[in-house]
Amino acid sequence: MIEELLARNKTWSKERRAEQADYFERLSNLQEPEYLWIGCSDSRVPANVIAGLEPGEVFVHRNVSNLIHPADLNMLSVVEFAINQLPVKHIIICGHYGCGGVRAAVSGKRFGLIDHWLQPIRDVAETRFECKDCGTWSDTDLDRLCEASVAAQVQRLARTPILQAAWKAGKDISIHGWVYGLHDGLLSDLECTVTGA
Ligand code: CO
Repeated sequence: MIEELLARNKTWSKERRAEQADYFERLSNLQEPEYLWIGCSDSRVPANVIAGLEPGEVFVHRNVSNLIHPADLNMLSVVEFAINQLPVKHIIICGHYGCGGVRAAVSGKRFGLIDHWLQPIRDVAETRFECKDCGTWSDTDLDRLCEASVAAQVQRLARTPILQAAWKAGKDISIHGWVYGLHDGLLSDLECTVTGA
C-alpha cells in the first residue's frame, strides 16, 4: 500500500531525531559531497546504502545500465553541477553483475527506445568480444561485458568537454569504474581510474 511509505517515513524521521536531535537541522545546512555516483537505476543498487554513506555525502545520478551518452543533458547537468558547485573530487561509475540492461543489449531482441539507449554496450561487445548481439551470452561473459562497459563509460566521461575543461583548470577530479555484486553485496574497483586529461 502506498500509504505505508508515508507511515514508514514518519517512523524513520522520528528514529533519526531520537538518535540525534539536530539530525535534520544539520543535514539541511550541509550538502558538501566529495563523491558523485553514476549508477544503474536497478532498485537493488542504492548508492548510499551499499557505500555506507549518510544523506549529504554522495551526489547521485542513475540511469539504465549506468551509461554515458555525450549529449545526455540530464547527466551532463549533474556532472557540471557536481564539479563546479559541489566539492566533488571522485566520480564513481558503478555497474553491477546481473544487470538487465547489459543482458538486453546483446539479447538479439528489440524492445524499442531502450535499444537506442543501450547502444554503447553493443559497441563494447563488438570491439571487445566476438559475439555482439547473438543472444547466446553466458552469465560469466555478461559479467565481463558489464565490467568492460563500465571501463568504456569512464573513458567516455573523461572525454566530455566538461571534464576536459575541469582538468585544464587544474581541478583535482578522478573518475573511477566500480562494479557491484548482487550476490555478495561487495563493490570492486575495476582499476580503470582516470585522473587528469
Ligand atoms: Co542494471
